[in-house]
Amino acid sequence: MNKDIDTIQSEAAEAINRAKTSEEVEAIRVRYLGRKEGLLNNVLKSLKDLPLEEKRRIGPLAQQARKEIEEAIDFKLKSLVEFEIPEEDITLPGKRSETGHLHPLTKTENEILRIFTSLNFSVIDGPELESEYYNFDVLNIPADHPAREMWDTFWIKQDKKPKNSKDHYLLRTHTSPMQVRYMETHEPPFQIIVPGRTFRYEALDASHEANFSQVEGLMVGKDVSFANFKFVIEQFLKSFFKGKKIEFRFRSSYFPFVEPGVEVDIKFKNSKWLEVMGAGMVHPRVFEFAGYNPRDWQGFAFGCGIERLAMIKYNIPDIRMFYNGDLRFIKQF
Ligand code: DAH
Repeated sequence: MNKDIDTIQSEAAEAINRAKTSEEVEAIRVRYLGRKEGLLNNVLKSLKDLPLEEKRRIGPLAQQARKEIEEAIDFKLKSLVEFEIPEEDITLPGKRSETGHLHPLTKTENEILRIFTSLNFSVIDGPELESEYYNFDVLNIPADHPAREMWDTFWIKQDKKPKNSKDHYLLRTHTSPMQVRYMETHEPPFQIIVPGRTFRYEALDASHEANFSQVEGLMVGKDVSFANFKFVIEQFLKSFFKGKKIEFRFRSSYFPFVEPGVEVDIKFKNSKWLEVMGAGMVHPRVFEFAGYNPRDWQGFAFGCGIERLAMIKYNIPDIRMFYNGDLRFIKQF
């Protein structure tokens, strides 16, 4: 019996020594120490047929052998683990860690705000849920005016019939309602810009989204002229499209809240003219609605689509790309 234990132990030690992988070591553990058919266990099981004295002698020997084999296995496993770690291949490319970044529209808006604040404009916020009064009436677009058709509108379902147009709600179709809202509570001279989301009930296509963003500008003073507008807008466009050679032109147009009204088009080298904003000199009726005497004040206003500017600057063919959340697009900025 002594001899059996000795043989088992030395065989086990040899096998452990030869083992090259942790799987092989595990197999050795099963073969020698396994509960069911392990060789050492078989010896222990056979003890029950021996006289008590023998049991007392052999028992501790077997326990000792088990302990030593276990230790040898643990030791071997540790050295194997160290050995099995593949050597670092320093020619492999590093793991790229993903960092978040601003959405291209946010970047564009930030850039617009940076330029206008450098021209001493203040940035003002306005409500997205707007009344018919500020969105249309005070911009010289009365209820029966055909110009309302320029802005397809999301009207809000209201439980009670609205008492008047101040109580009749819609999602603002442009940022222009902030013109009179601001003038009602501020004295000129001032110059502001109002960035924000706007909404139109439109059929969606590459250049139309139901939800888009605009930035409105308004400058009012004693003698603010169209020349001032041209200067500000030229500074803005040059700075926004920096590095790109652009031409721009002011084309006469119609908006009920300005007189005269223009649209500004820009053209990159050799491409076609693209419209970037509507603008003009604030209409006297709008000043009256704001409580200003139109004889005392004059000013210019403009409004442009932020997506539009980003599409031109970054060569983006479809406005829907800003909103579909496709990371392949967003990650390019
Ligand atoms: N609000 C107009 C639109 O969304 C754009 C616009 C035109 C704004 C002329 C202005 C302006 O401030 O003077 O179509």
